[in-house]
Amino acid sequence: MPDKKKLIDTLEIQRTLTREEFIHLLTGFTEEDAEYLREKAVKTAKQYFDNKVYTRGLIEFTNNCKNDCYYCGIRKSNTNVTRYRLTKEDILECCKEGYGLGFRTFVLQGGEDLRYSDDDMADIILTMKANYPDCAITLSIGEKSYKSYLTYFKAGADRYLLRHETANKEHYEKLHPASLSLENRKQCLRNLKEIGYQVGTGFMVGSPYQTAEHLAEDLLFIKELSPAMIGIGPYLPHHDTPFADREKGSMDLTLYLISILRLMIPNALIPATTALGTIHPLGREKGVLSGANVVMPNLSPVTVRKKYELYDNKICTGDEAAECRVCLQNRMKKVGYEIISARGDFVPMED
Ligand code: 5AD
Ligand code: FES
Repeated sequence: MPDKKKLIDTLEIQRTLTREEFIHLLTGFTEEDAEYLREKAVKTAKQYFDNKVYTRGLIEFTNNCKNDCYYCGIRKSNTNVTRYRLTKEDILECCKEGYGLGFRTFVLQGGEDLRYSDDDMADIILTMKANYPDCAITLSIGEKSYKSYLTYFKAGADRYLLRHETANKEHYEKLHPASLSLENRKQCLRNLKEIGYQVGTGFMVGSPYQTAEHLAEDLLFIKELSPAMIGIGPYLPHHDTPFADREKGSMDLTLYLISILRLMIPNALIPATTALGTIHPLGREKGVLSGANVVMPNLSPVTVRKKYELYDNKICTGDEAAECRVCLQNRMKKVGYEIISARGDFVPMED
């Protein structure tokens, strides 16, 4: 096998590797390898985005979910969660505050909550678009029918985040109950693309049972899907799930994967996620310094933030966190990056 630096050179030129090469790249890398990769990833990110970091206002509008994913703190079976739903008025209030703070993308994220009908969602989206025509709307509300996705798109939704979680069928089945399937997940992603959304996918790093082979398959799946956005973060246990006692994922491996993804899809929008900020106090800064170019401060009302706990110790849930935007602006500035207000749409490559 060639050494890792040679593989990194190949990745930079070819923008992909074979499954075996990815496995090798991901196994037993040194800090020197990671540094070599990070430098190339940052150089690439700077070519496309300079030192700019896009920002999206995250509105966690419901923690009700019909699913029971084994890793997720708001899974249906967790009876210890205080469930909440934001009304349309609550959501618009978040947007008003966010707009004033400079956000030009709003992300509506929630569990799969059947209480919001397609008409309800369309009504919320239409009103947001009417009030803030210069803003992008991103949805992150899980698996829906083609028809539902089309309804939201026609109402004005621009983007959709749906992490595939793992591209390996056996692994997928270890993380989810039988009611969920990788095939349907992939079909949803294809449908979203076909409808015309800017699509985001991604996975957790270090989820239970995950191997380097699985990660290689995740990378190849992402290459093939060619998404506009790629969100990854370390797996973090939640005390009220079947995976409560599992090890958390590795920050270093997450950062390494961010750099790999940056070289694979240079123009992608890659967030430094909240999970990365939770695993280490400077995780999001490190994410950007590894090739990420998006941050997603929490815009949810402070009163509900603690209730949207996908994993333990999630940051930005205290009263003091009312102002994540300013906090992140300062954090990014400290490491030489500038948060900008632009919508930050995906720009396809010319070739
Ligand atoms: N640790 C880290 N990330 C998680 N997610 C869900 N549960 C956890 C957890 N315990 C991620 C999933 C999901 C996204 C919204 O949050 O990847 O797609
Ligand atoms: Fe939320 Fe810093 S980003 S408190």
